[in-house]
Amino acid sequence: MTKSSINNAQSGERVLIFDTTLRDGEQSPGASMTFEEKLEVADLLDHLGVDIIEAGFPIASIGDFESVSEVARRVKNASVAGLARASDKDIDRCAEALRDAQHPRIHTFISTSPVHMKYKLQMEPERVLELIAASVSRARNRVADVEWSAEDGTRTEIDFLCRCIEIAINAGATTINIPDTVGYITPAEYEALFRTVRERVPNSDKAIFSVHCHDDLGLAAANSLAGVRGGARQIECTINGIGERAGNASLEEVVMAMKTRHDALPYHTNIDARLLTRASKLVSAVTSFPVQYNKAIVGRNAFAHESGIHQDGMLKNAFTYEIMTPESVGVTKTSLVMGKHSGRHAFREKLKELGYDLGENALEDAFNRFKDLADRKKFVYDEDLVALVDDEIVTAHDHIKVLSLMVMAGTQGPQSAALTLDIDGEKVTHQATGNGPVDAIFNAIKALAPHEATLELFQVHAVTEGTDAQAEVSVRLSEDGKSVTGRGADPDTLVASARAYVSALNKLILKRGRGKPEAMQAI
Ligand code: KIV
Ligand code: ZN
Repeated sequence: MTKSSINNAQSGERVLIFDTTLRDGEQSPGASMTFEEKLEVADLLDHLGVDIIEAGFPIASIGDFESVSEVARRVKNASVAGLARASDKDIDRCAEALRDAQHPRIHTFISTSPVHMKYKLQMEPERVLELIAASVSRARNRVADVEWSAEDGTRTEIDFLCRCIEIAINAGATTINIPDTVGYITPAEYEALFRTVRERVPNSDKAIFSVHCHDDLGLAAANSLAGVRGGARQIECTINGIGERAGNASLEEVVMAMKTRHDALPYHTNIDARLLTRASKLVSAVTSFPVQYNKAIVGRNAFAHESGIHQDGMLKNAFTYEIMTPESVGVTKTSLVMGKHSGRHAFREKLKELGYDLGENALEDAFNRFKDLADRKKFVYDEDLVALVDDEIVTAHDHIKVLSLMVMAGTQGPQSAALTLDIDGEKVTHQATGNGPVDAIFNAIKALAPHEATLELFQVHAVTEGTDAQAEVSVRLSEDGKSVTGRGADPDTLVASARAYVSALNKLILKRGRGKPEAMQAI
């Protein structure tokens, strides 16, 4: 393997990247995003070079419908897909949401495995075949680009799967997806499945085949690449691998595997890998899902070399222990950015370098927070700015904001917190006690903004090194079976905790307002 083979991903066959962070990713418990956050993510995915952005499930809620419509309206390069079950109502709602898209795609699906048909759908296989023909042709009458998915495809009997696919293609499907819905298959089996289906289905040459893998056995990326070897030319994946249960195949892993091991996987994508780190950070910030430290490609340790032998090798030649450069995926060297004397212009340029393009108001707010941070913290690093700006993006449209906090903590209890919030423009203050300062803060928030949500998770980590580092706090709240995660960053861990709780509460309020209009049944 040579360095040039590592970096050469321009030759070979093209594989389409279908990103479902905003649909399958957002479906995972606690990962919900607000309307504005979804737009931020969609914009970045479009810049990243994703071919298809699955923006949501329009029938699921008014919120989903609105965000799919808005993503459809603003995305310029990628196709925008919406998900629909095999029902007229779903397909019509999906088509309506995609009305303004430059390249709309309806993605319709139905279960095809014996266990799903019998217990979930409670339908005979013949009825499923009828619904495939009806749903795909209805979708095809609305848009030219229709994807059909065989849910639980990898546990479907092969003869039946081939019949389903033939019918879907005859009805007008242009992409056929065979999902490993429950993360059950192995790479060799998945590769063979695509070969068999493409060989046996008479009209298989009329559609692009797609992989969609879940990570229940940790095989999602390997399975996706095996499916490509079997002839699939679309990979469905998410940033950071977020998704139902153990998640989906992670976009950064499949893309970098093809780029780095182009000799073994001679395929290429349109992804600008230098934006992968930025995309990972944004998705982590808006979902408040931390990225595991040792996560491939985007984990904070992915390019860290701790052992003496490794460090020695790295100093002699980075290629000894690095199969790709940190810069190739957008990791910049930790750098001291600016001090308290830095001006707006330098600040704006620095943010551009970090991949942010903020509007005037957001820039002004972020700049004020930066000045405040620079007053309190000796060195301000890139990571500090990323945490600060992500926090600003996440809180910009909040109903409730933290204005000020005073805490009494220490060995002499009870600990207390005096908190002032801005709730829809009204300033309110409350003093509460608690079993520790965090409990006191959360009690004060509850008194000012009463709610029944339960605290499911409280997590703190430091953004950089040093005792004056910013703390990044994640808080997960759940209410009526819905769970949301909020995040806050500040050099003061207690202020970050208050911000994180309030951010989760804001998401919960939005969820209540745009809640699910109907329980989602199988069909
Ligand atoms: O995992 C799955 O089967 C899905 C389908 C809806 C494509 O997400
Ligand atoms: Zn899925």
